[in-house]
Order: sequence, then C-alpha cells, then structure tokens
Amino acid sequence: MPAAHDASQDQASDDDVLVPIPPDHGEVEPAPEEVRANLYDFPKYYDLVFGSDWKAEYDFLLECFDKYRPGKVKTTFEPACGTGRLMVKLGKAGLAVAGNDLNEKAVAFCNERLKRHGLPETAVVGDMADFKLQKPVDACFNMINSFRHLGSEAEAQSHLNCVADALKPGGLYLLGLHLTPEDDDWEGEETWHARRGQLSIISDLRTTDFDRSKRMETLGMTFNITTPTRHFVMRDTMHYRTYTRKEMAELFSSVDRFEILETYDFCYDIEEPIIIDELTEDVVYVLRAK
Ligand SMILES: C[S@@+](CC[C@H](N)C(=O)[O-])C[C@H]1O[C@@H](n2cnc3c(N)ncnc32)[C@H](O)[C@@H]1O
Repeated sequence: MPAAHDASQDQASDDDVLVPIPPDHGEVEPAPEEVRANLYDFPKYYDLVFGSDWKAEYDFLLECFDKYRPGKVKTTFEPACGTGRLMVKLGKAGLAVAGNDLNEKAVAFCNERLKRHGLPETAVVGDMADFKLQKPVDACFNMINSFRHLGSEAEAQSHLNCVADALKPGGLYLLGLHLTPEDDDWEGEETWHARRGQLSIISDLRTTDFDRSKRMETLGMTFNITTPTRHFVMRDTMHYRTYTRKEMAELFSSVDRFEILETYDFCYDIEEPIIIDELTEDVVYVLRAK
C-alpha cells in the first residue's frame, strides 16, 4: 500500500537554512598514489609501525637477563636487528649492543640512531643464518618473528648454530615468534594507526595465504601514509615460514645446542611464564646455550 502523503513535508519552515555548496566541477578527491615497496626499505616507516611497542619488550629483556643470568649480562647481540629500536634502549641502559641485518637501509638507520645517542655504530649488514662474532656475548635476542623469515629448516638450523657459537657458555637466547596453533583458524588481521610528528601511518596486515604443507604464511600489508607533502598507499607482501610447537621442538632437538629454560607469551610478563599447548600462538623461548 502506498504511504499516506504528509503535506507538512512540503512546507518550507522559517528555521530552514540553505548552505551553498561551492561548485566542484565534478571533481572528487584524487585517490592516493599507490606504490609497491618493501617496508624494510623504509626504516622510518617500519620504525613507526613496529617501534612504538618497544617498552614492554625492553623491560622483559632486562627482567629475563636478571632472572636467568643474574648480574652477568653485559654484552648483547641482536640477529636481524632492523632499525635497532631495542638495541638503542639497551645501549642507553649501559649494555654493549651489536646486531646484524640483511637490509642495508635498516643497518644505516640503526647506526645513525646509535650515533645520535652517543653509542658506537655496531650494526652490520649480515645474514642471521651465516655470521660469526669476534667475541662471544652474554645474550642474544630476536623478538618479533624475524626468525620466521628464514625460508628452510637448514637455514633455521644454521641460525641456531650461529647464535650458539656467538654466545658464551651458559649465554641466553630470547627468541620470539608466532606459532601455528593446532586448530584450523589461521586467519589473522590487524589494523593500527601510528603517528609521529607529522607522519601518520594506518597499517593493515592480514594473512592472505597459509600453506601448511609448504609451511609458508603470506602476509599482505597495506600502509596508508601521510606526510606533510605526500599522501600515498604502500603495499607489500611478506613471507613467513610456519612453525607448530612440535616443529619448533624438533628443530631445537636436531640442533641440540640449547636448553629451554622457560617460555612466555607476548604479554611479556616475567611473573607469568606459559606452558605451550596446542592453541599457543605467540611465544618467547628463553634458551640457554649448552
Ligand atoms: C620484523 S623485522 C624485526 C627487526 C628488529 N629485530 C625489531 O625487533 O624491530 C625483521 C628484520 O629481519 C631482517 N631479515 C630478514 N632476513 C634476514 C636474514 N637472513 N638475516 C638478517 N636479517 C634478516 C629484515 O631485513 C628485517 O629488518
């Protein structure tokens, strides 16, 4: 049935205000420019998106050093150090810090940052699966999935051997990564807005493919970036090797260079170690070199 006509809707009222809209000549806001690029080639953007969360990790590292090697951690090394967001804080706390990374731009950014804070420029371009330190250190750390960039079991083993060789006997390795839980729910999606000064980045990270047989997770990343002079969208794709808790256990036992002292999750609460079960996703292994 048609709705009854309401005559009052046709009447102009004294309260009505007509606001002129300037002619737009049919123009709409232009879509931001889109670029495909590797986030790691833009250390400033990487650092804003992933660097803001440093405090919980930093506190946790210091607490682990105290708890598992009291009074003995003076020298540290970070494989795949990136922009050095944690190195610089630990350096300022009085620890000797050094690190390596495959990405030259990240290493240059890291050294520049260390220098700005009056610390030696100790980041080098290097492969975390193939490096040797001149002098062994008291602790190594690798907190947020960088280890999963290693594409094969052989590289993962080689990495663990390099780290074990880089540590003094009894030295610690704190290794953080996301495990594949044993249910089938692998879909992940995160959206964040980060701002530093006049730089603003809205990031959207989502798992676009997860191949259990090939042990490969593909992550699609979109960064909507606004600077004082430019607005653009950067797209990147990242590949991460996958690990179940069992695959990690097999890897550790095949290398047999570390003892697992304890495990935590990404809440980084030193009072709350976790027991890894079939649903565990984020984990930090506290390892001690044998
Ligand atoms: C998620 S970022 C982490 C950076 C830093 N550890 C942090 O916590 O901010 C991963 C880093 O691993 C580096 N990377 C990937 N494969 C590597 C390899 N084989 N050896 C050294 N660095 C590597 C990348 O260049 C990138 O800087």
